[in-house]
Amino acid sequence: MSLSVKSHYLALRDMARSEIDTVLDVAQSLEPVANRTDRWPILADRTLATLFYEPSTRTRLSFETAMLRLGGSVLSVADAVRTSSVWKGETLADTIRTVHSYADVIAIRHSENGAAEEASKWSKVPIINAGDGTNEHPTQGLLDLFTIRREKGRIDGLKVAIVGDLKHTRSSNSLIYGLSNFDVRLTLVSPKGFEPNQVVLDRLQERARHFSVTEDLEAAVRDADVVYICRIQKERIPDKADVERIIGSYVVDRQLLTAAKRVPIVMHHLPRVGELAEDVDDYPGARYFEQPWNGVLVRMALLALLLAPSQVEGRIHRDRPMRAETAVPLND
Ligand code: NCD
Repeated sequence: MSLSVKSHYLALRDMARSEIDTVLDVAQSLEPVANRTDRWPILADRTLATLFYEPSTRTRLSFETAMLRLGGSVLSVADAVRTSSVWKGETLADTIRTVHSYADVIAIRHSENGAAEEASKWSKVPIINAGDGTNEHPTQGLLDLFTIRREKGRIDGLKVAIVGDLKHTRSSNSLIYGLSNFDVRLTLVSPKGFEPNQVVLDRLQERARHFSVTEDLEAAVRDADVVYICRIQKERIPDKADVERIIGSYVVDRQLLTAAKRVPIVMHHLPRVGELAEDVDDYPGARYFEQPWNGVLVRMALLALLLAPSQVEGRIHRDRPMRAETAVPLND
């Protein structure tokens, strides 16, 4: 295997299938390191800075966990807007040209679309996009692909329903871009006015993927192998009347899932705020509390690929095979 080494991870839109496969394979190979049954401190003299201008639980903590499990160290700005010089009016360019002197890699979350790409123009160290506005959340998309592949043994051939506020959710954009590399059947379910942006649908069209956009949640769930639920992104919706209109109208609960022809895996990027009922938590297909662990593995893979690619290559050869060989049979 020869690794194509990237200098930044900014978007899933730009990633080829071979690059995605590499990240998922490396992530899988690192699980013994993540769960501490193996030690592999390849980033012992490296530092990650997490520079977060927006709230986060899973993304920031899993980045930091990933760095620590590879022996590295972490500098964290959890609330850059209030507790860093951003509050005084510092530009992103100036902040990046400061932080890159302290860290070997920067994971940035920002409220503006394109902020990670902008940061990459000023940074002398790799930038990882941890979410930029309503644009992308590529590391979430990769951990979602990893979860699907791990649970179903493959991604090709699956029927995937993505449900919720697909207009403002960056996780679903990245997941859709990622899935556009695979032979999937996608059903995109959202209330009227909350459909995915045309630029996202265009990518599916360009790649001739089979997809439909619908409001019919029940029909989509009935036929799915994977049901992926997204939060209504209240803070990104200018008209609060719109929020009121749709809140509660797209709830995935146990009863809805009993209508499914088979047991789909149920995923959510989290946090959930009502669109995924708690009575799904013990549903046999529920995987949304496994996703955060998979996020550690995928972020370990990205950090290792950016900062120690030759060592990763050595490990891959040692640990083959890493691709899930035992595909779970599809249900129809
Ligand atoms: C998401 C985010 O911030 O984009 N959370 C996450 O990283 N898992 C989704 C959200 O806030 O709804």
